[in-house]
Amino acid sequence: MLNIVIFGAPGSGKGTQSERIVEKYGLDHISTGEVLRGEIAAGTELGKTAQSIIDKGHLIPDELMIEILAGKLDKLADSKGVIFDGFPRTIAQAEALKVMLNERGEDITAMIELDVPEEELMDRLLKRGQLSGRADDNEETIRKRLKVYAEQTLPLKDWYEKEGKRCYINGLGELDRIFGDIVAAIEARM
Ligand code: AP5
Ligand code: MG
Repeated sequence: MLNIVIFGAPGSGKGTQSERIVEKYGLDHISTGEVLRGEIAAGTELGKTAQSIIDKGHLIPDELMIEILAGKLDKLADSKGVIFDGFPRTIAQAEALKVMLNERGEDITAMIELDVPEEELMDRLLKRGQLSGRADDNEETIRKRLKVYAEQTLPLKDWYEKEGKRCYINGLGELDRIFGDIVAAIEARM
């Protein structure tokens, strides 16, 4: 199986590039942000808990997030592999993911890191906020998301480097060029 972690700051293009990877390799896509937004839209208890946290730009507690992810993995049948988008976001989540995959006789094939400068991230997200109106795409919440990313998620770069899984990609520029670089990185590890 081909199991990919797509990693990067808010607005780095994880969702955009995941769609292309899914189409090319026939993978299942688990976007934890999408899962949470679905729960919010459905008005579930989990959605209510998640909404107030997401609106502040904070992270959902690890234990809850890991449980949600395990549930999603259990539901996959005949999977060719999974692209993990927005998970892991902390070292605890990365360690839990490794255990979950190992228990299933699987491993991460590659961690694709999309690197994009902060000014560009802010630009992209403010633009998206105007178009699609994602509630967390306003300047104040974006700043908080970027800060939380720098403090809690960025340390995962080194974690995956030590695991020998990290693939650096310049995430600034044309979508096709970025996708080409991602494909080359994946195929070098298949
Ligand atoms: P999540 O939904 O994962 O949001 P995020 O990480 O903030 O990232 P985005 O979805 O905003 O950006 P993206 O990298 O997918 O970029 P995109 O392709 O859309 O999480 C939301 C919240 O849920 C979190 O803040 C947290 O509260 C909670 N959460 C989720 N997972 C969690 C976890 N594991 N643990 C705890 N809490 C969790 O692109 C952005 C924009 O840029 C788009 O408009 C796109 O069209 C454009 N764009 C993309 N590529 C380019 C390019 N190359 N050039 C120009 N524009 C581009
Ligand atoms: Mg996304």
